[in-house]
Amino acid sequence: MASEPVSVKEFQELARQVLPKMHYDFYAGGAEDEHTLRENVEAFSRITIRPRILIDVSHIDLSTTILGYNISAPIMIAPTGMHKLAHPEGEIATAKAAAACKTIMVLSFSSTCTIEEVASCCNAVRFFQLYVFKSREVSARLVQRAERNGYKAIVLTVDLPRLGRREADIKNKLVKPQLKNFDAVISTEVSSDERSNLQFFSRALDSSLCWKDINWLRSITKLPILIKGVLVPEDAIKAVEVGVDGIIVSNHGARQLDYTPASISALDEVVSAVGGKVPVLFDGGVRRGTDVFKALALGAQAVLIGRPVIFGLAAKGEYGVKQVIQMLSDELELTMALAGCPSVKDINRSHVRTKHQRPLSML
Ligand SMILES: Cc1cc2nc3c(=O)[nH]c(=O)nc-3n(C[C@H](O)[C@H](O)[C@H](O)COP(=O)(O)O)c2cc1C
Repeated sequence: MASEPVSVKEFQELARQVLPKMHYDFYAGGAEDEHTLRENVEAFSRITIRPRILIDVSHIDLSTTILGYNISAPIMIAPTGMHKLAHPEGEIATAKAAAACKTIMVLSFSSTCTIEEVASCCNAVRFFQLYVFKSREVSARLVQRAERNGYKAIVLTVDLPRLGRREADIKNKLVKPQLKNFDAVISTEVSSDERSNLQFFSRALDSSLCWKDINWLRSITKLPILIKGVLVPEDAIKAVEVGVDGIIVSNHGARQLDYTPASISALDEVVSAVGGKVPVLFDGGVRRGTDVFKALALGAQAVLIGRPVIFGLAAKGEYGVKQVIQMLSDELELTMALAGCPSVKDINRSHVRTKHQRPLSML
C-alpha cells in the first residue's frame, strides 16, 4: 500500500503484509468456524444512527472519565497478548502510544514486556489484566507487582476457563515467545519449551474459578476490580452483587466460544441489568468511529480496541498505534458532529436503532 492508511481496515492490510503468516493469523483469527468473529464486526452494520439536527456542534468534546481517570476520548486499549510478535518494542511501544493519546492501556497477563518495564517507560494510566492460574500464588504475585508498580485497576478476564480452539494456531503450530513476567514466579522445573506451548497455558488455568473467588481477589489487592467477559444480564447482575467496580462486555474478540452473540448485540441487555450501578465498558469488533458512537449510545462508558492496536503496532510501531487511536477519535468526533452530540454525555439510546427495535412512536 503506497499511500498512508486512512482506516483501520487499511492498517489491517498493512499488518498482513509485514507479519509472518503465523503471527498475523494469531492476531486476526478467532475460534472454530469464526462465525462470531465475523458477527462482531457485521452486527455493527445492522445498527443505524438517528442523527439530530440544528444543534450547536461548533465545539465537540470527546473527553470522558473512567474510574476517575480523565481520558481524551472514550477509546481504551484492550489487553492483548504478546505484542513483541507484532513489533520488537512490544508493549512498551503500545504504552507510549497510550500516554501520547492520553488514554488507558490494559496490559495483558500474557505480555512480552514485564509489568515493571511497561510501568517505567511512560506515564500512561495502566490497568492490569489477570488470568487465574491453578497455582493462585503465581496470579497473586503478578497482581501485587502490578499494584506496587502503579497500575490502577485489575481486569479479571472470566471467559477463559480453558483456551478456545483457534484452528489457525493449531495448524501453524504457533510457539509462544518467552513471557518474562513469569520468569521469577513459575517453577524452574517447567522448561522454556514447555512454557512456549499453548497447551501449557491452558493446563495452568484454574477452571474451577467461580463467583466466590472475587472475594479472594479482593483479599489480595486494594485496586478496583473489573470483570471482562460478561455477555448476559444474569451474570451482570451477579457481578454487581459480588461488588465488582466495573463490567466489560466482551466475547474475547471471538477467540473463545464460537456462536456467542456479537459483543455489540449483548450490550443493551447488560446495560439495562446493571442500571448504572457500575460502569459498563465494551469491546469487540470496533473498527470505526461510528462503532464507538453506537456502543456509547447503547450505554457503554468507553470502548476498548484489541486488534486495531495490534495492526497499528505491526505496521508502524508506536506511531502506528497512535495513528489508529487518533483515526478512531477523529471519526468519532465527526460522527458526533453529524449526529448532533457536542459531548460524550449527549450521546444516548435515542441516537441508535437496532434491527429488532420498533421505530419510536411519534406520540
Ligand atoms: C491477539 C489477541 C490476544 C488477546 N489476548 C488477550 C489477553 O491476553 N487477555 C484478555 O483478557 N483478552 C485478550 N484478548 C481479547 C481482547 O482483550 C479483546 O477482548 C478483543 O480483542 C476485542 O475485540 P477486537 O480485537 O475486535 O477489538 C486478545 C485478543 C486478541 C485479538
